[in-house]
Amino acid sequence: MVNDRVLALARDFRHHDEGLDVAFEVYRELREGCPVGFSEHYGGFWFVTRFDDIHRIEQDSETFAVSPGMLLPPLGNERPGIPIDVDPPMHGTYRRAMLPAFSPQQIDRLEPMVRRAAVELLDAFDGERAVDVAARYAVPFPMVVFCELAGLPTDESEKLEDWINRIFYVRTHDYDSTLRAAAELTTYITSILEARKGEEARDDLFGRLLTAEIEGRPLTDEELADYGFILVVAGLDTTAWVLRSSLWYLAQHPEDRAKLHERPGLVVTAVEEFLRCLSSVQGMARTVTRDVELGGHRLRAGDRVLLVFGAGNRDEAKFPDADRIVIDRQPNPHVAFGAGIHRCMGSNLARRELRVALEEFLIRYPDFSLTPGSDPAWYGIDPLPLVLEGRGRM
Ligand code: HEM
Repeated sequence: MVNDRVLALARDFRHHDEGLDVAFEVYRELREGCPVGFSEHYGGFWFVTRFDDIHRIEQDSETFAVSPGMLLPPLGNERPGIPIDVDPPMHGTYRRAMLPAFSPQQIDRLEPMVRRAAVELLDAFDGERAVDVAARYAVPFPMVVFCELAGLPTDESEKLEDWINRIFYVRTHDYDSTLRAAAELTTYITSILEARKGEEARDDLFGRLLTAEIEGRPLTDEELADYGFILVVAGLDTTAWVLRSSLWYLAQHPEDRAKLHERPGLVVTAVEEFLRCLSSVQGMARTVTRDVELGGHRLRAGDRVLLVFGAGNRDEAKFPDADRIVIDRQPNPHVAFGAGIHRCMGSNLARRELRVALEEFLIRYPDFSLTPGSDPAWYGIDPLPLVLEGRGRM
């Protein structure tokens, strides 16, 4: 039933509102009362909140294209990101060039490095009991892993962190800063790749990018920069957010900590559940290529549509008891990584990082809680002060 309240919610809908606890209430009302709606933000866009509609759109990349860009609002990069903002047939060509770098076998090979990164960060707590786990663990962990994987210098991670914050979080209120950050990051990536062209080929992610071939030729300098840009921005904050959120949740749920302690293998399904319920990527956009009917509305060619993954992942029609985190939930066909041809290329890596980071943390700290007096609301990246109980060092 569409009533005035739901219509007002729809008109004012954004996936970047402050607290996500509030957003989930909005998602529920929209899913029930206005599953396909029109928001007046960002120049006007349609949004889709039910799992089945999201899935359907994901499967129809001809009608729902990604060009000129999947991010709403855009990330400030000058040209479309590769492969995320590219439609077929070039999308598949670009994607295939780098997909082997993220295969399950490749991720198995990376696991010792990933584990070492987690262990070193945890060892650096050095017996401290009160720790900001976001700043000391969730944020640096994917950064260290990615820098190792890509062959980037780890001592420049502060710079990277600043660019990424401005690209993701500042773009809703200070787009100029986002534009500057995106330009600086592109220059940085270009200079790294340029310097490496003169060196002996290295077996890492950027090495693979430099030797990748599409249609029988190497990538041009612009293609290298646009692919490198997406690889850098796609996997850092996204993974940090989910790790921080998982620890935030576990700090408040001793029964789930105990379950994970008794059956450590459950971390695998717990990670899927954290991705379903606490995911960093709440929505991605498409552009309609021809007039089409959706949920009783007529969408016109050129209209933008946001797939609200965060709402689809809590759709009761797909997930029983959808708002509750059930760490051994199975099956769990969530869309935190998307579901179509643009499905997250780094999902194997992200899953492995999350599993290893939680395993290593829980072995050392079977018990932990939010620091008394700290804000218990859920935020993706803010400080997460925890009181830790356990052996700390192994
Ligand atoms: C928890 C962490 C992550 C989440 C939640 C996530 C989520 C997503 C989502 C929702 C999409 C778009 C899917 C669509 O619209 O259909 C995507 C695309 C992508 N992600 Fe991730 N991602 C994560 C980590 C990573 C990592 C670690 C990397 C690699 C370093 C990565 C690389 C990419 C790339 C390259 C694409 C574009 C794929 C294409 O267009 O074919 N992501 N991701």
